[in-house]
Amino acid sequence: MIKANYPVTKFEAIRTPFYYYDLEVLRRTLQEINHLTETDPFEVHYALKANVNPEVLKTIRDAGLGADCVSGGEVKAALDAGIPASKIVFAGVGKADWEIKLGLENDIFCFNVESIPELEVINELAIGQGKTAQVALRINPNVSANTHHYITTGLNENKFGINLSELDKVTAIVKQLSNIRLIGIHFHIGSQITDLAPFQDLCVKVNEIQEHFEANGIVLENVNVGGGLGINYEHPNHFPIPEFEAYFKIFREHLTLRPGQKLHFELGRAIVAQCGSLISRVLYVKEGTSKKFAILDAGFTELIRPALYQAYHRIENLSSELPEEEYDVVGPICESSDVFAKAYQMNGTHRGDLIALRSAGAYGEIMASQYNLRALPVAYTSDQLL
Ligand code: LLP
Repeated sequence: MIKANYPVTKFEAIRTPFYYYDLEVLRRTLQEINHLTETDPFEVHYALKANVNPEVLKTIRDAGLGADCVSGGEVKAALDAGIPASKIVFAGVGKADWEIKLGLENDIFCFNVESIPELEVINELAIGQGKTAQVALRINPNVSANTHHYITTGLNENKFGINLSELDKVTAIVKQLSNIRLIGIHFHIGSQITDLAPFQDLCVKVNEIQEHFEANGIVLENVNVGGGLGINYEHPNHFPIPEFEAYFKIFREHLTLRPGQKLHFELGRAIVAQCGSLISRVLYVKEGTSKKFAILDAGFTELIRPALYQAYHRIENLSSELPEEEYDVVGPICESSDVFAKAYQMNGTHRGDLIALRSAGAYGEIMASQYNLRALPVAYTSDQLL
């Protein structure tokens, strides 16, 4: 079995479970993004919801990316990491007043707005601060993303965004709000999208919507197409860098930008997933009646994706080169859903072996919980373990 090139002897001395971030993989990913977008009017905002590890954030800031935030906490984390306010967009269906105020105080680039009542509240709070809030309308394009139903967001029945039928009403209201400046439109169709066709569908919809706006005398400076580019969970060693080239090409070729218009992206998973692994130790190998269980010291408290979305994460035994055998790889939490994989082929496994759950850099550490009164996981980077 091909495995990650990790400093296993260094790992031996560290208490498990912990997250490990290979910053070289992250830097290469960021270089690829910058290289592929440097000649286009494209701006990539990193979706902080995927991972806010300070070292990861700093590396992303150093590459010059902007930030996509969905809470006051994330806006703070982006500012603390040194990401300029002029590159911060703030989304979310339920922004609290203090969060909106924080964004206004710091003059963030844009609020992605999802409803009329939200527009009215932002306007009032902006009046209170004597500021003008820049907003983009999040429009629900009704495009299907062919991904897990928990993570598709662009369909009419989702709670997100403003429906196409409401658009004219909303723009009429925006015109009447004194301290709101409409600077763009925003979309997001879902996450872990590996079949790129839905992005092309999105481009077609965006073109239609832009024409509609123009016909009504409105030209917007910004189009934001959200995030969602998927990664290869099966083969992180062969495909550490996602399909950015094909992804950006779709937008370059199919979305018609107006002169001076900027196209914004909000990528989370595609930037950070492959640089991270959850490192765990085998506590026990238990023989069941018809199968073997490898019981790890990490569970869904550290990585909830398998339990919550039936997500696949590649599992590598970093300590063993023994012939492969089949295991149910499970955690220690007192719930039957605490299973990372069933009937999984792994090198012969013993107590104390180090296990890597791969592609866990996105929606891993950040979704950890203290259920069963477990400690939140710590994290190390490749730079720290050099
Ligand atoms: N923009 C908006 C408006 C979003 O809702 C999201 C993700 C993103 C950008 C970033 O999407 P990405 O590029 O990472 O696909 N916890 C789930 C994923 C939830 C995604 C939520 N929204 C998981 O572990 O698969």
